[in-house]
Amino acid sequence: MGISKEQIGSLIDKAFEMLPYAYTPYSHYKVGAALLAKNGTVYGGCNIENAAYTPCNCGERTAFFKAVSEGVTEFDAIAVVAGHEGNVTNLGSPCGVCRQVMMEFCDPETFQVICATDRENYRINTLKEILPDGFGPKALAAG
Ligand code: THU
Repeated sequence: MGISKEQIGSLIDKAFEMLPYAYTPYSHYKVGAALLAKNGTVYGGCNIENAAYTPCNCGERTAFFKAVSEGVTEFDAIAVVAGHEGNVTNLGSPCGVCRQVMMEFCDPETFQVICATDRENYRINTLKEILPDGFGPKALAAG
């Protein structure tokens, strides 16, 4: 599956739209994400922190959990933008836990992870590239 430059641009725009909603009183590091479902719907997400620290949820997972909680479980791509206080100067990168959540719902060969600083500057990798030899649902299949 190919993702067009226009689709990439609009996912990056949506990820930026999510940044102001990031709730980050502890790290001050804001993450915005935009997850493209195979049905064409885009789910936004932001990171949500907590005074007890461990319940913090990453922006990527917020987007996945919003979609899955509405019955949508098939995805093509996610765009991620991140930076201190929402100033996006460097490419972000999904944490290991978020990569594992992607592995649950996405085809590692085709799912596209787009880390951007703006519409023109981004890095695209397949999930397989950023999570080689990932453990997923197929590993639990009988036989
Ligand atoms: N964070 C994300 O939202 N996504 C990532 O992939 C990396 C880390 C968040 C979690 C926490 O709120 C803050 O960034 C600092 O780790």
